[in-house]
Amino acid sequence: MRISVVNGTIETSDVDTVIVQHFVGEAAPSGATGALDSALRGAIADVIASGDAGGALGSTTVLYPRGAVSAERVVLVGLGPTQGFDAEAVRCASAGAARRGRELGARSVASVVLGAGVGGLDVGSAAQATVEGMRLGLYDFDRDDAFEAFSLVERDEARVEAVEDGVRWGEAVAEGVRLARDLVRRPANVATPEHLADVARGLATDHGFTLTVGDRAWAEERGMGAFLAVAQGAGFEPRFLVLEHDPTAGRDAPIVLVGKGVTFDSGGLSIKGRQGLAGMKEDMAGAAAVLGAMGAIGRLRSPRRVIALVPATENVIDALAYRPSDVVRAGNGTTIEIISTDAEGRLLLADALVHAATYEPRAVVDVATLTGAVETALGSLACGLFSNDDALAAALIASGERTHERAWRLPLWAGYRDRLTSDVADLKNSSGKGGGGACVAAAFLERFTTYPWVHLDIAGVRSVERTEGYRVKGPTGFGVRLLVDWITRA
Ligand code: BES
Ligand code: MN
Ligand code: ZN
Repeated sequence: MRISVVNGTIETSDVDTVIVQHFVGEAAPSGATGALDSALRGAIADVIASGDAGGALGSTTVLYPRGAVSAERVVLVGLGPTQGFDAEAVRCASAGAARRGRELGARSVASVVLGAGVGGLDVGSAAQATVEGMRLGLYDFDRDDAFEAFSLVERDEARVEAVEDGVRWGEAVAEGVRLARDLVRRPANVATPEHLADVARGLATDHGFTLTVGDRAWAEERGMGAFLAVAQGAGFEPRFLVLEHDPTAGRDAPIVLVGKGVTFDSGGLSIKGRQGLAGMKEDMAGAAAVLGAMGAIGRLRSPRRVIALVPATENVIDALAYRPSDVVRAGNGTTIEIISTDAEGRLLLADALVHAATYEPRAVVDVATLTGAVETALGSLACGLFSNDDALAAALIASGERTHERAWRLPLWAGYRDRLTSDVADLKNSSGKGGGGACVAAAFLERFTTYPWVHLDIAGVRSVERTEGYRVKGPTGFGVRLLVDWITRA
């Protein structure tokens, strides 16, 4: 889809469909919507006055201009109440309008910059949110976009540059989310560790990143016994990806992103049941988010040095698969008693977190579908956030609010760590009964960190059961927008 910015008026747009807006309780259409209403001799004002278009967020009313303007149809989209209005409302409204347009067979679409100037929303952010909502709301797995052309129409020439910037950001971020959603949707026989490596190769070519694809021997050289234990029973060969964006030629301390890349989690010998197995191709959603974020960072030519680490393997069983009671050694020498082979994510993350230290990072953020417990605690409204650094935690939480990929902080108390003491090793990988599974898992990870660090447990937010706003049924791509917002402000 071609996305462009037009300095002009919506009522003269030469497209088949135009999108305009109104708020709950707004008596008469104003701004660009008002100008179109005048061209339509009050048709929009009438439909609002009739009460048929109440302005509810994401609701749509279609009007037919009958030659009064060149567009075949007008989609009037509700932005909800002005009270509490924000960029999230724009994303939801834009998705609703775009999907209605698609249903009606729209090919060329022009939209006003939804919500610009309302509730303190600057025009650039409004443009970005409009594009994000449209692109993400139209997301359809491995299929091309619905529209041939989409333009944002801005009357005021002084604001065009800000709109163009917003569009550029919205496109980059939406493209990153699309990549993440595609990867998570792909079945585990397609989205193998080598497939993740292929995707990373594509990103490296497109954006000039440096890529290292580590295999078993590479991991052995680095003493990654915890990662290799998980991979021991794997049929598809494991890969450890190191993808670097460095516009600073090594001068800056990097931000390191770590993504859990378990391409299928059977639980190993501590095997999951029928129910538990069902969604486990999605256990690489953290890796997908990190790769999607790297794509956006590359497209935006961010001046930040960022390194992505993706330990990728399936967690399945053959005769040599690792067992409960095995003792393994992570890259920093820490020995781990395996209690459950289903607590595999923390093992491969342990080696990735140890490896991250070699870059002397200014901050490390890991993203992982780590525990069912976090889904129990927070559902799909927020990921769990754990951190050893209050300022870093606050920065990520703020990015989560802005992007509406919300993160809720949970504790890293010593009492959780104490539940991991082992009789035969430095620690064990699962505490068994006692609850607080997400906190215990985070306490395990903390043992391998030596720098400011945030852990995001995204098990509960990795996908949604039904379409709502710009979150289309299936994988959400959660983390891409949050990470990009944070990195570009860090
Ligand atoms: N990949 C799972 C976590 C998960 C569960 C993600 C449900 C998405 C939906 C993880 O590897 C796992 O199995 N965790 C166990 C840990 C337990 C064995 C200590 C869990 O949460 O039950
Ligand atoms: Mn598991
Ligand atoms: Zn897992």
